[in-house]
Amino acid sequence: MPSSDPNLTGAILGIETSCDETAAAVVTTDGQILSNVIASQIDDHAEHGGVVPEVAARAHLTQIDTVIARAMDEADCSYSDLTAVAATGGPGLIGGVLVGTVTAKAIASSCDVPYFAVNHLEGHALTARLTALDDGGIDYPYLLLLVSGGHSQLLAVSAPGVYRRYGTTMDDAAGEAFDKSAKILGLGLPGGPKIEALARQGDAASYDLPRPLKNKPGCHFSFSGLKTAVLTAYQKTIEPLEDQASIDQKKADLAASLQAAVAETLTSRSRNAMDQFLSDHTVTAPCFVVAGGVAANQLIRQMLMDLAHAKGFQFNAPPIGLCTDNAVMIAWAAAERIKAGLPADGLDFAPRPRWPLDPEASPPPGRGVRP
Ligand code: KG4
Ligand code: ZN
Repeated sequence: MPSSDPNLTGAILGIETSCDETAAAVVTTDGQILSNVIASQIDDHAEHGGVVPEVAARAHLTQIDTVIARAMDEADCSYSDLTAVAATGGPGLIGGVLVGTVTAKAIASSCDVPYFAVNHLEGHALTARLTALDDGGIDYPYLLLLVSGGHSQLLAVSAPGVYRRYGTTMDDAAGEAFDKSAKILGLGLPGGPKIEALARQGDAASYDLPRPLKNKPGCHFSFSGLKTAVLTAYQKTIEPLEDQASIDQKKADLAASLQAAVAETLTSRSRNAMDQFLSDHTVTAPCFVVAGGVAANQLIRQMLMDLAHAKGFQFNAPPIGLCTDNAVMIAWAAAERIKAGLPADGLDFAPRPRWPLDPEASPPPGRGVRP
C-alpha cells in the first residue's frame, strides 16, 4: 500500500456517490475550494417517495463523468495537476459507492497519484476544520454532533481515523425523523428543508410531541417514537379536517412542533456529551462542532450554539451548503489524512456499506450494529 507523504501538496479530486447526490470537487491540500459540483437525483426518487438504491446507482453512473469534468473545468485543473484522488468508500448504498470508487481508482491509477477511500462520516466530521480555516481553525480534539439522514452520533474527534463515540441512535436517525414526518405530511423530498420551511408558519407549542431520552443520562438517541407520534397526531387532528386553510395551518404547527422536539432532544443529549468530553480531555478552549445534513437547520444550529456557549464551548458548524452531502468534504478528508501521514488506499479497496468511525464503540441498548 503506498504511504502518503505528509508534505504532499496540491489539488485533490474528491468524489461523493454514497446516497442520492453525485458530487465532485477539487480542493487543495491547504484548504482552497477550487470547485464544488453537485448533481442532485431528487427528481429521480420523488415518484417513489424515497431513495431507491438501484435508481440511485444508475443515476450516479449516468452523471459521474459529466460531474467530474465540470469540477475539473471549474477548478481550471487538468488531470496532470492532481496530487491525489479520493472517493467515498462507505458507508452508504453499495451501488453508488461502487460507481464512485471504481471511477476514482481508474483516475488515480492513470494519473499515477495516490487513491484515498474516504469514510463518508469522516468527511462530515472534518469539514468544519476546513471551513473554519479563515477563522482561526479548529484544533483536535473537539466534540462533534454528526446528524444526517442515516446517522445521529456524538463523538470526540482526536485526529483523522481517531474517534471515540459517546452516543448513537438506537433506531431512526434525526434526518429520518424529518424525512419520514415530511412524508406523513405529504411534503415530499427533501424532508428536512421542507419541514423547516413549513415550520416558519407554525406554532411549535401546538403539539406536545415526545422528547425521546431528554434529561436522561447518556448520549444515545431514539427518534422512531417521534415519527410515530407525528403519524398519530396527523391522523387524529389533520386527516378529519376539510377546510384547506385549517389543514395547512395544522400541518405547519405539526412541522414546527416536530422541529422543536428534534432540536430539544439533540440539545439535551449534546449537553451530556459535553460533560463527558470535558471529563475525558484537558483543553483550554473546547470546541463543539455540528455537521451533517440536519446541521443545515437554523433552529437546531441556534439552540446548539446557545448550549455550547452556556457550557463554555466554542461553536462551529460548516456553512449550510457544506452540511449536506458534497465532495468537498471527501477531498478535504483525504487532505487531512495526507497531513496526518496516513497511508493511501490500495486499488483493491473493497467498498464498505457499513463503516463505523469508532469500531470499538459498544452498540446502544436495544440495537445491533449501526455503522
Ligand atoms: O448529510 P446528508 O446530506 O446525507 C446523509 O449523509 O444522510 O443529510 C441528509 C439529511 C436528510 O435526512 C435531510 O432531510 C436532512 O439531512 N436535512 C435537514 C435539513 N437539510 C437537510 N434536516 C432538517 N433541516 C434542514 N434544513
Ligand atoms: Zn452525508
